[in-house]
Amino acid sequence: MTGITNGAEAPLNRADEVKELLEAVEKLIIPFIRSADEDAATKHTGHGLAIPGGGPRTALVEHHPPKKLEQILNLNIPEQAGGKDGLVQLVEKVLQYSVNTWDQGFLDKLYASTNAVGVVSELLLATLNTNAHVYQVSPVLTLVEKHTTKHLAQLFGYTSPHAGGISQPGGSASNSSAIVIARNTLYPETKENGNGTHRFTLFTSAHGHYSLEKAAQMFGLGSKNVIPVPIDEAGRMIPSELERLITSSKSRGETPFFINATAGTTVLGSFDPFPALSTIAKTHNLWLHVDGSWGGSVIFNPQLAKGRLDGVSLADSIAINPHKMLGVPMTSSFLLAKDLRQFWAAMTLPAGYLFHNAGESVDDIYDLADLTPQCGRRADALKFFLSLQYYGQQHYADVVARAYAAANYLSSLVAASPHFVGVSPDPLPCLQVCFYWARDGRLADDKEVNSRVTSEVAKRLISRGFMVDYAPGERGKFFRVVVNGSTRRGTVEGLVKAVGEVAGELGF
Ligand SMILES: Cc1ncc(COP(=O)(O)O)c(C=O)c1O
Repeated sequence: MTGITNGAEAPLNRADEVKELLEAVEKLIIPFIRSADEDAATKHTGHGLAIPGGGPRTALVEHHPPKKLEQILNLNIPEQAGGKDGLVQLVEKVLQYSVNTWDQGFLDKLYASTNAVGVVSELLLATLNTNAHVYQVSPVLTLVEKHTTKHLAQLFGYTSPHAGGISQPGGSASNSSAIVIARNTLYPETKENGNGTHRFTLFTSAHGHYSLEKAAQMFGLGSKNVIPVPIDEAGRMIPSELERLITSSKSRGETPFFINATAGTTVLGSFDPFPALSTIAKTHNLWLHVDGSWGGSVIFNPQLAKGRLDGVSLADSIAINPHKMLGVPMTSSFLLAKDLRQFWAAMTLPAGYLFHNAGESVDDIYDLADLTPQCGRRADALKFFLSLQYYGQQHYADVVARAYAAANYLSSLVAASPHFVGVSPDPLPCLQVCFYWARDGRLADDKEVNSRVTSEVAKRLISRGFMVDYAPGERGKFFRVVVNGSTRRGTVEGLVKAVGEVAGELGF
């Protein structure tokens, strides 16, 4: 063997293999999406389209408990390669037993299906398999990320030439990164020395997302040092309470450094009062971060943003998740900076084996991983960039407007029925509609009873093609229904009908 091949090796045939598999999978995914489209026509009846064969199958999902599903799926890894036929069978199973987020009845969490561009952009990302850590391997997608984040930053009113942002793998990651950036900016010695003698404290509303506490546990700050600030009747942080808690933290010798304000809380959708919180942050030299993972997307509709996102540009950093309200595929999340130079100074750790292009200033930074906690990074910004190009910005103003219209319609149906007790603030801050089922308006005194009604009705709704969530409240668990920009009036009517019928079936 000489090791010289003289071009005699078999030709590569990867392109044809990809084509063959794509064609096979396309034959499965298009009917999957179509089944949700067809199901939409009957949603107003309160019962999704019956699937031939019956059983627990609706277009939304064929749901089974985990142990049973494990048996049905047979997920053991075989000795022998399954090849194309095996793959097709598996894809069929994945589709059959997964939740079809394209279905109108998927009203469960703070996201829903993606759209045509979303599917295409994921395909493009998979084809390129780009790692957006350094420019050399990611020339186009690095620039796409820089432009997309700059555009978003400007949309939020960050006017400095140094405004920008980074793509992050989710809202929790954006919030965690904001905490580290804040600490390293305000107390630069902590970057190398750790927290030292500081006992750092953070402040978030009592309804803030749990990612703040999780981050405090990860970064050695301790979740007890995330101080919950009381909220008003509309679920908004009370500024005077924040100030009181900061002052008392200081008097205990602690170092308050971070305020997390929320734009769209997870359960009620409330927006904190940013201008007042900014004044307090400035007075006490704290970093103000806005967790807009959910409600930040309202920025695309100036009319609805008014009164909700007023003063948001006063924050030092803002998180936004287009994968929630705007239908961009999971994950699409950005941490935006009033001044990206702070992100750089706080995060840079120029590992010589990766970063070969140390810039003079942040404007020269094209190795974006150096601004983030990640090394390898998906080029997720492409997905939002492509959808902004394809649909245009007005589309997103309309998506937000349609979603609010659907939420308000559902809220009006809930208010008009004697059998619901509303929980959401009035007017609705965001797209969650929260309520109890209570026949003739009579809620039980026992929280457990109300919780059981909610959870059992929610469970049974799945077999009718509706999936909704619930959350704990003062009078027990209540329904939290989350609509989106594609939710139709008939769907909302069908849901209200279905809740009433299912409650009747269960004797509630
Ligand atoms: C207000 C808020 N912040 C952060 C997050 C976390 O976002 P992710 O799920 O992308 O980590 C959520 C998720 O629902 C949220 O509602």
